[in-house]
Amino acid sequence: MRNVIVTGGSRGLGLAIGTQLARSGLRVIAVARKMTDELAAARELAAAEGPGAIEFRAADLADLGTLSSLVRGVRAEHGPIYGLVNNAGLGLGGLLTNMLDADVERLITLNTASPILLAKYAARSMMLERAGRIVNVASVVAATGYSGLSVYSATKAALVGFTRSLARELGQLGITVNAVSPGFISTEMTKDLTAEQREHIQRRSALRRLADPVDVARSVDFLMGESGRNITGTVITVDAGNTT
Ligand SMILES: NC(=O)c1ccc[n+]([C@@H]2O[C@H](COP(=O)([O-])OP(=O)(O)OC[C@H]3O[C@@H](n4cnc5c(N)ncnc54)[C@H](OP(=O)(O)O)[C@@H]3O)[C@@H](O)[C@H]2O)c1
Repeated sequence: MRNVIVTGGSRGLGLAIGTQLARSGLRVIAVARKMTDELAAARELAAAEGPGAIEFRAADLADLGTLSSLVRGVRAEHGPIYGLVNNAGLGLGGLLTNMLDADVERLITLNTASPILLAKYAARSMMLERAGRIVNVASVVAATGYSGLSVYSATKAALVGFTRSLARELGQLGITVNAVSPGFISTEMTKDLTAEQREHIQRRSALRRLADPVDVARSVDFLMGESGRNITGTVITVDAGNTT
């Protein structure tokens, strides 16, 4: 069974991605700081129904010095790493002029430095197999901008630039690197948005609705599978037409 690491796999988009990839026959190693009941249920379902599987590994991905041993540990336990989905992220907002320096650093560490280092260590494993898939979860705000999300947007725009360059670097080794950019999606990260704000986003979207976690999961699944074998260096936007 091929192994794929899904960071932030315990809830929200990461949980939907892991569930979908296990349904497609992959062994998902979901990484987060804490296990959740939803992930435990998804793991049980995958074990009962297959064809893939879901494992959990507890790790604080902001602890950059531990990422090398995290990836090494996954390899030692499960074998070569085929896929990496850099999905874990922090959605901290605020006007830049009021933000604590420590929060700016937290955002950059978890949303940008951590996925870059995970890609570095996972790609070393993929290189040996001359095959692999990396998917970075960015955001539409990387391209559009959003008042109150300047630092968050910067971290996501960095991921898009990283995706494009790394795709060029790793292509000759048979490794694809892409990004998926979700628009607003209802998860714990966005629970503070008011009903009015949600309606506003919906009204401004071409499809007059919001995308769901499963829509993001299916895009990641597409990139991970045979359909994605000749797609690299791209960004797939999943936002129900909010930014078209
Ligand atoms: N929801 C949206 O509207 C939206 C839109 C565009 C992009 N995105 C992006 O999509 C991704 C997932 O978002 P989401 O809405 O699903 O977020 P979420 O519901 O807040 O889930 C975040 C996940 O990341 C994990 N995580 C957070 N900090 C971590 C850390 N230090 N170490 C390890 N794991 C950590 C969380 O588990 P623990 O807390 O247990 O560690 C959880 O599994 C993020 O990169 C986000 O920026 C979301």
